[in-house]
Amino acid sequence: TDRINIAIDGPAGAGKSTIARRVAERLSYVYVDTGAMYRAATWYFGQRGIEPEDEEKLLQMLPDLVIELIPEPDGQRVVINGQDATDEIRSIKVNAKVSRYAQVEGLRSRLVALQRQMALRKGVVMDGRDIGTTVLPDAEVKVFMTASVEERARRRFNEMKEQDQITMEQLIQDMARRDRLDQERKISPLRQAEDAVLLDTTNLNLEEVVNVIISMCRSFV
Ligand code: C5P
Repeated sequence: TDRINIAIDGPAGAGKSTIARRVAERLSYVYVDTGAMYRAATWYFGQRGIEPEDEEKLLQMLPDLVIELIPEPDGQRVVINGQDATDEIRSIKVNAKVSRYAQVEGLRSRLVALQRQMALRKGVVMDGRDIGTTVLPDAEVKVFMTASVEERARRRFNEMKEQDQITMEQLIQDMARRDRLDQERKISPLRQAEDAVLLDTTNLNLEEVVNVIISMCRSFV
């Protein structure tokens, strides 16, 4: 049977990455975590002291940035120019800055080009903010995944590496700020594609959400 592409968008902590990975497993598809790519870029430029405002320098150095997403049984490793930064890209520091780097047009167009290339042969489950609207507007299945802000904070808390350094209250504020920046930015803001299915996962467990998406794919695969 023919393979399809699946786009999963939504705000921070909606459970996109866990769900997308499971859906990919079930279909033997490839999972692409585009958030990890923006996080990797943020870490890379942060290390080199280049702020998002310094667009000229940033774009000059962009060709040197090499991001590898290496699938592992229990997630993925993120290697940036040969250096493992799997944990670093989930740090509080990167959380605080990623949405500002994600506003830089030249960075976005470079990452979008890479993402499209990864999906050329189909059989990809890609999650992010602009997949259904910009990266893969022709994806056969599009989901816009949400959950209540409390539930999203709880989920994000559980996947963080530095729980002891952050309170739930801070996490909610960080998420709300990031969502606002992502929704209000000029280039490909976070929003539901017209042909995307809205899926509120607040009261659904992981298996239920995965099953909903798999059943959406049934007419294709
Ligand atoms: O998905 P995750 O929370 O790891 O994404 C981190 C940040 O990367 C988002 O808050 C957003 O600013 C940016 N991002 C984006 N476009 C995507 C994926 C992520 O702008 N497709």
